[in-house]
Amino acid sequence: EETEKINVVFVDKDGEEIHIKVPIGMNILEAAHENDIELEGTLFFHFILSFGLFLSKYSGACECSLACSTCHVIVMDTEYYNKLEEPTDEENDMLDLAFALTETSRLGCQVIAKPEIDGIRLAIPSATRNFAVDGFVPKPH
Ligand code: FES
Repeated sequence: EETEKINVVFVDKDGEEIHIKVPIGMNILEAAHENDIELEGTLFFHFILSFGLFLSKYSGACECSLACSTCHVIVMDTEYYNKLEEPTDEENDMLDLAFALTETSRLGCQVIAKPEIDGIRLAIPSATRNFAVDGFVPKPH
């Protein structure tokens, strides 16, 4: 029996959509990497903004152990955001260090594919000062 998959759409800084299929149970960071999608943006900014974090060359700097914020994604629809499990305190602490934090930000490695979020759209908060997508509520640090 084939593993069930859901549709996930990544939206990059140019508004370009990348549609992928993600097996149930897989985290979004891993799924992005399997599809050659970089969530990490400009590492330079992460380096400046995520103090105390030693960034490795490879992506998902901490390998999903909630010790970085390089896998930051923005859930584009509140409806979907609300279907996700609540972030843990550890995730919230790391999100606080993330660049371009919004009210619907999550760490990609903590977002696990499940049927309820089929069709979820995730913006990749590329490290640009110009990042602006209508409807996102920036969260003050
Ligand atoms: Fe480090 Fe997600 S890869 S917190």
